[in-house]
Amino acid sequence: MEPEQTDAKATPGHAAVAGHYSTGSARERIESALRRAGKDPDRLDAHDLAMMEDFHSSGRFATAALIELAQISAADRVLDAGTGIGGTARAVAHQAGCRVTAVDITPEFCSIAEWLNASVGLADLIDVQEADVTALPFADGSFDVIFSQHVQMNVADKALLYREARRVLRPGGRLALWDVTAGPRQPILFPVPWAERPELSHLVSPPELRGILAAEGLEVQVWNDLTDTSAALMRTVNSGPTAPLGIHLFVPDFAIKGPNLVANLEQGRARLIQAILVAV
Ligand SMILES: C[S@@+](CC[C@H](N)C(=O)[O-])C[C@H]1O[C@@H](n2cnc3c(N)ncnc32)[C@H](O)[C@@H]1O
Repeated sequence: MEPEQTDAKATPGHAAVAGHYSTGSARERIESALRRAGKDPDRLDAHDLAMMEDFHSSGRFATAALIELAQISAADRVLDAGTGIGGTARAVAHQAGCRVTAVDITPEFCSIAEWLNASVGLADLIDVQEADVTALPFADGSFDVIFSQHVQMNVADKALLYREARRVLRPGGRLALWDVTAGPRQPILFPVPWAERPELSHLVSPPELRGILAAEGLEVQVWNDLTDTSAALMRTVNSGPTAPLGIHLFVPDFAIKGPNLVANLEQGRARLIQAILVAV
């Protein structure tokens, strides 16, 4: 069953976030890379998308671990909040066989997500909508599970973000997070994958994040700081050759932003939190 739609308007100021993620050339670059790899861009296997699927720290390892922790069943109604080009939504739909609603504020990413969902044969299970995660166009209690990986660092008003998440979750529903938070040493080094400049980056410390979630009725079930293992993994990946199909195809200057993320983690400027919260 599709979630009941309501009217919602994007929060002013979030256009700058969409501007940060838009290049106008991402689809063309991805299509060219796929053709160079001998693939038909309109008839892909999920595995063809490889390292492009996960625009967050630790890539597919993090997505797979979060899907396992969230214990999704085929009957669950899932929201991927801030889907990007849709890799998490595809992984969830493919693995659990459930319906996924995927929202993002960046129109260019929404249109690529729709193309790739159709190309890998998941268009019937995934509905993509352009929407702001702080003003979701869905009725109360529409979802059993919300996934959100590496999105809240672009959102200044985190109380509003999680109030919306709590509102659209049914009581007892789960919020699955994989997120960047502030470390004890500040400021962070820019540019990073989510921001070229400080105005777009809104990091809070892990205890602050936990406090905001609790205040909005989201109770911690799992809370893991995976900074050190994730930084080590990404350092190893960054030291190897650039994969032909990777997020550098749609993230300008990723060769600088990726290593900067690792440096922020290693220098105590940022921390990575994996969490499952329950709507109480
Ligand atoms: C670093 S990417 C992560 C994408 C995806 N979750 C993943 O892990 O592959 C951050 C995404 O969050 C989206 N985003 C940021 N703020 C948003 C907002 N207020 N509403 C909806 N999407 C937002 C951006 O457009 C971008 O696609």
